[in-house]
Amino acid sequence: MRDILLVALIAYAIGNFSTSYILGKLIKRIDIRTKGSGNAGATNALRVFGKKIAIVTFIFDALKGVIAVIIGEMLLGDMGGLIAGLFAVIGHDFPIVLKFKGGKGIATTIGAATFIHPIPALIAIIIGIIIIIITKYVSLGSVSAISLVPFIGLIIIRPFNLEYILFLTALALLAIIRHKSNIKRLLDGCESKIGEKAK
Ligand code: G3P
Repeated sequence: MRDILLVALIAYAIGNFSTSYILGKLIKRIDIRTKGSGNAGATNALRVFGKKIAIVTFIFDALKGVIAVIIGEMLLGDMGGLIAGLFAVIGHDFPIVLKFKGGKGIATTIGAATFIHPIPALIAIIIGIIIIIITKYVSLGSVSAISLVPFIGLIIIRPFNLEYILFLTALALLAIIRHKSNIKRLLDGCESKIGEKAK
C-alpha cells in the first residue's frame, strides 16, 4: 500500500509541472489560465501564444505521462505504470501548485497510454486527428478519441487485462469531466476552432 501511494504521489508531482503555464509566465509574462479557454494546455497555448509554445507544451505534457509510467513500472511493475499514468494526468488537471486549476490532460494521457500500449492509443490518436481535421474542433477530436480508446483496448489487447481497461476508462471519464464546458459550447455551436486566436 505504501508503494502504491508513493508511485501515485511521484506521478501526481510530475503532472503538476504545467508546461503552458511555465512557458507563458517565463516568455510572455501571461498566466495562460486567464486567456482563451482558460485551459493550461497545448490547444489554448496555440490560441494564446502561437505554434512554438503550443508544440513545446504538447511534447513536455506528453513526456510527463511517459516519465511517470516509466517510474511507476520501475517501482511497481505493470500495475505501477497504470497508477502512475493516471496520477500524472490527475496532477496535470488538478495541480496543487496552481490551486488545482490546470489542464484537461489530453497530451499527458497520450504520452502515458501510448507508452503502455502503443497500438490502441495510436488508433485512437488517428481517429482523433481525422475528427479534428474534418471539424476543426480539437475538443471534439480529443473527447471522441479518448472515449473510444477503452473499447479499442478491449478489442485489441489479448489476454484481456481488466486493470488496463479500467485505467483507460478512468482517463476517458476524467477527460469528459474536464471537457464539460467544451461539450456545452459544442452543443451550443460556439466552440472555438483550431487556429482561431484568443479573443
Ligand atoms: O486538450 C484540450 C482540448 O481538447 C481543448 O482545449 O483550450 O479548447 O479547452 P481548449
